[in-house]
Amino acid sequence: MSENAKGSVTVTLDGSNKSITTPLMHGTIGPDVFDIRKVYNELGVFTFDPGYGGTAACDSKITYIDGDQGILLYRGYPIEQLAEKSNFLEVSYLLLHGELPTTEQMKEFEHNVVMHTMVHEQLRSFFGGFRRDAHPMAILCGVVGALSAFYHDSLDITDERQREIAAFRLLAKVPTIAAMAYKYSIGQPFVYPRNDLGYAENFLYMLNAVPAEEYKVNPILARAMDRILVLHADHEQNASTSTVRLAGSTGANPYACIAAGIAALWGPAHGGANEAVLKMLGEIGHVDNIPDFISKVKDKNSGVKLMGFGHRVYKNFDPRAKIMQATCHEVLRELGIKDEPLLDLAVALEKIALEDEYFVSRKLYPNVDFYSGIILKAMGIPTHMFTVLFAVARTVGWVSQWKEMIEEPGQRIGRPRQIYTGSPARDYAKP
Ligand code: ACO
Repeated sequence: MSENAKGSVTVTLDGSNKSITTPLMHGTIGPDVFDIRKVYNELGVFTFDPGYGGTAACDSKITYIDGDQGILLYRGYPIEQLAEKSNFLEVSYLLLHGELPTTEQMKEFEHNVVMHTMVHEQLRSFFGGFRRDAHPMAILCGVVGALSAFYHDSLDITDERQREIAAFRLLAKVPTIAAMAYKYSIGQPFVYPRNDLGYAENFLYMLNAVPAEEYKVNPILARAMDRILVLHADHEQNASTSTVRLAGSTGANPYACIAAGIAALWGPAHGGANEAVLKMLGEIGHVDNIPDFISKVKDKNSGVKLMGFGHRVYKNFDPRAKIMQATCHEVLRELGIKDEPLLDLAVALEKIALEDEYFVSRKLYPNVDFYSGIILKAMGIPTHMFTVLFAVARTVGWVSQWKEMIEEPGQRIGRPRQIYTGSPARDYAKP
């Protein structure tokens, strides 16, 4: 980031002779940034930005989003090109290292990932402590956090090699744990990973195979799953990534930080939205009920939202949603699903919402979750696993962002301030 700016910002505190002028900072692309670090010291006032909609909390070289144009770049490469030409493991290398790998580098990277796919046998006993009806996100959150109790040789965040090993372990073990959480919830035996399969293929294998018979993963579905993973791999400083960074800024170990990210992802305003979309479509039930549902969405007192629509950053079509829409049709075709009532409902809902003044004026477009739920459902993945899948994909983004932060010289603990609106100081007195 360069500070030798063309341009600066001056803020003057009304009614005082205090003012501050700071140069604008520039990224490679994107809006300039007004550095507010000295505002409190020089002016004695805080800045206020709940939800951080206008605040850059860090500088990062990993992912760029232009929400108005509907652009998403990983390390400079457009998501559309990566979804078409690359694959999840190559994208993982790119996110972690900043450049696409050579053939040799890719071979070594793949080897390092597959060597870590199994989990410590003792970790299996953790699962038995959860109720059978536990949400797999609850299990994932707990078991990923527990990795720090098993892998003591990769907890020293000041050691570059240990950070690297933790990255491989997380990338390799999260799918295994996610699949185990699923198998546990349906009462089937855990399936060990197979290192001869691709990343997405192995994940589908661990989800669907049973020891009693041979199971072959459909290559089209493996490709679709790989694409879903690519599309969800990173997304700049979203709520879960910011949570990972905030937890990491305290020096917490990587497994604890990723568990914090998983917890933040779970919410329906974030990664839980794909599950919420399916629930919503089920509740609407039929195309005829859409107008009633849309009226409810527009009524602010109803608390009903059109799930899978809207985004904090994208005020145009989410580029991931476009790719997801195409993948959705591919998967349904492959599976021979001609009439999928939920898809018909989703398409009708999308059409109405894209034409309706309420959504148009607020720039509310379908986001990635609007379609991913339908694809996953068609692939036979149960709704309560949707957010888990998102977590599997996002782990590499979280780890990349965590590593970038730890490796940043002068990294400090994240510590926002507040406007205090409680009681002023008062003396203790019993009521
Ligand atoms: N349905 C109906 N109205 C909506 C929706 C929606 N899905 N999203 C936003 N709005 C309305 C708001 O009520 C607000 O209206 P107002 O100006 O009349 O008060 C206006 O649009 C602006 O919305 P904000 O709440 O300011 O948008 P914000 O950036 O805070 O929220 C969010 C973004 C959380 C994603 C929101 O759009 C939402 O809840 N969408 C549904 C959940 C969802 O799909 N989340 C997935 C996000 S993508 C991801 O995590 C992968």
